[in-house]
Amino acid sequence: MFKPRVYVTRQIFSDALDIIEQAAELEVWPDDAPPTPEQLREALADADGAIINVMDRIDAPLLEAAPKLKVLSQVAVGLDNVDIPEATRRGILVGYTPGVLAKATADLGFALLLATARRVVESDKWVRNGNWEIAHHPMFWLGSEVNGSTLGIMGMGGIGLEMAKRALGFDMKVIYHSRTRKPELEAEYGFKYATPNKVIANSDFLSLHVPLTPETHHLIGEKQLKKMKPTAILINVSRGAVVDTDAVYKALTKGWIAGAGLDVFDPEPPPVDHPILKLDNVVVLPHIGSASNRSRREMHLLAARNLVAALKGERLEQCANPELYETLGI
Ligand code: DGY
Repeated sequence: MFKPRVYVTRQIFSDALDIIEQAAELEVWPDDAPPTPEQLREALADADGAIINVMDRIDAPLLEAAPKLKVLSQVAVGLDNVDIPEATRRGILVGYTPGVLAKATADLGFALLLATARRVVESDKWVRNGNWEIAHHPMFWLGSEVNGSTLGIMGMGGIGLEMAKRALGFDMKVIYHSRTRKPELEAEYGFKYATPNKVIANSDFLSLHVPLTPETHHLIGEKQLKKMKPTAILINVSRGAVVDTDAVYKALTKGWIAGAGLDVFDPEPPPVDHPILKLDNVVVLPHIGSASNRSRREMHLLAARNLVAALKGERLEQCANPELYETLGI
């Protein structure tokens, strides 16, 4: 019996692989490092479907080289690595995994907020370097207090909302800007809506939760950073290019802002000699917002179900280009 061919571009939970294996011949990229663009092109050349990841650039030339593809199932909510209009033009369904990772990503956003405010990573290094006695000085390691401060949220989607809800437990005030105003959240949680400029200027912690689009590219640049409080801390768990990284470096070294917690970077991976990595007032993580056992497993399972549904000619649980359903007659 004919079985479609599926390529999985990174190792995933085995129960997700089991779901795919029931419907397809399966191949999984074996290495920890992602495939290069050439290796990815070769891997997908003969594939009917693929489970992909934010590190895989799916552009027009790659799609041109993968004529059999019917479905791309992304293990992420963000889809800026995929040329969706081109996939749609070619009749390729694109699945993704919103919702299941919102809480884990907000947990990590809050971890960054606390770590930068209370200088957790910096002071940990002192202990490891044998400086405990000096570090325990009454005037050393003074950070900013989180409770009672103002959290500014840019982008009140699923992850922004989870971040804002966590702030309430720390007695923080929450102001936000979002494409669509959310009066029901204002009524339920007391969040205050404001213009982007007001959110930027009044936040003690400014946390970014927007997707990367041409409109949000460099949403936070030199102009915005200069408007922030000099005591403010920037948190980014969305996409690296939502901020202008050079401008953030400038802001951190010139004292326009006090610190930054970055789970994402532009580019990813950052060059090891990037000057921002030398600064003490920055915590940089390797894009691990959704990296909890529970969320990653749910993402993998959802991606597998999306992929199998498309291969069977059924609707996906989460589809980024549902306008194709009509064309495909499903
Ligand atoms: C997402 O879901 O977009 C995350 O960044 C990937 O872990």
